[in-house]
Amino acid sequence: MRAYRAAILRFRDREAVYESDGLLVVGPDASGRKVVRAVGAYDQLAPNYPGITVEHFPGRILAPGFIDLHIHFPQTDVIGSPAEGLLPWLENYTFPHESRFADHAYAVGVAQVFLDELQRNGVTSALAFATSHPHSVDALMEAAQERRMRLIAGKVLQDRHSPDGVRDETEQSLVDTEALIRRWHGVDRLGYAITPRFAPSCSEAQLRGAGELAAQHKDVWIQSHVAENRDEIRWARELFPSARSYLSIYDDFGLMRERAIYAHCIHFDDADRALMRDTGSAAAVSPTSNLFLGSGFFDYEGARRIGFKHGLASDVGGGTSFSPFHTMLAAYYVGREGQTKPGVSLPPQELWWQHTAGAAEALGLGGVIGNLQPGCEADFVVLDPKATPLLARKTANAGSLDELLFAMIVLGDDRVVDRVVIDGQGKHG
Ligand code: GUN
Ligand code: ZN
Repeated sequence: MRAYRAAILRFRDREAVYESDGLLVVGPDASGRKVVRAVGAYDQLAPNYPGITVEHFPGRILAPGFIDLHIHFPQTDVIGSPAEGLLPWLENYTFPHESRFADHAYAVGVAQVFLDELQRNGVTSALAFATSHPHSVDALMEAAQERRMRLIAGKVLQDRHSPDGVRDETEQSLVDTEALIRRWHGVDRLGYAITPRFAPSCSEAQLRGAGELAAQHKDVWIQSHVAENRDEIRWARELFPSARSYLSIYDDFGLMRERAIYAHCIHFDDADRALMRDTGSAAAVSPTSNLFLGSGFFDYEGARRIGFKHGLASDVGGGTSFSPFHTMLAAYYVGREGQTKPGVSLPPQELWWQHTAGAAEALGLGGVIGNLQPGCEADFVVLDPKATPLLARKTANAGSLDELLFAMIVLGDDRVVDRVVIDGQGKHG
């Protein structure tokens, strides 16, 4: 066992709990997993652990590692590719780039860069798209396994309306998916996600097969995209004219349930929101991507009113940053936007929760990751609230937890992340 002394941020239900001089005790549980054994005020807790090695981080904040609910590992180098919206962006940049992952060695190299970038930014878990090439999943899983990360990923399914080089073949794509589930799901901290790219790129047979696999493997995740862009929605509706809505296409094929995560969910009506809620599906809100591609603004008021799960995601490379701080700030802008939907001012504790404990709940991993309550796995970040001169001035004058968190959300980035601890093992940021 070892312990860490610093300020500590964690969550009780949706509320942040902040200990200005705290102690986090980490050690193995009955099954050998490295977990939080105790957390609380240093003065109260320290006497219970005489002789334990305590690492002291004066002036620093220990916080749960961030969780990215939707990111594309092969789009690490697609960041910053401008286009007239989603569909031209896919056609001109994304599909040509993803075709390079046919080369296994290339995928292996990018996997290291991708995981380095997540870690530098304090992201300890992610739900990631690979490409349609099965070995791109192996490349990412092997790299994540070596780093002992809790990472969930899947091979993209796209058997139509996709160019040579990324298009897969219906039958083989399902055989490959099943083999990858058996190879990776539940191995160490890894998980598999069945990954239909989006309804327009998948035949009915492929979606049906994906739904059948999802029914057979109930604790496997599902990830896709929905209701991101008006042209995309029109296209999906043309291809599936009998579906009630774009979202309900996925329901028709058995792809909505707990552990199903849909990116974007922007252009929804209340029936879609109720479908998300009633099936236990969750939205991966991707604000930097939505602003960059001009897709629209996630309706937080609608999500709260109907009550479906949602959390934050970078959606790199449509998204513009790996940094959870940038994503939380963009989510604030998106929530605030009040011309096309009701504008809400999201409190900083809520933004932070959506990228940690809330994201974990969306994944069905509440109490496992995204928090520092006893029993949670030991994935955390050490943050420096004085990382830049302006941030130091702002945080020195913060009169409340909200002010402190808002200062970091607005002014923070990878410079704030001093150190990242994954599965109880540290790495300097
Ligand atoms: N819809 C289908 N594929 C993609 C993708 O790669 N990125 C985004 N943002 N939307 C998509
Ligand atoms: Zn995406």
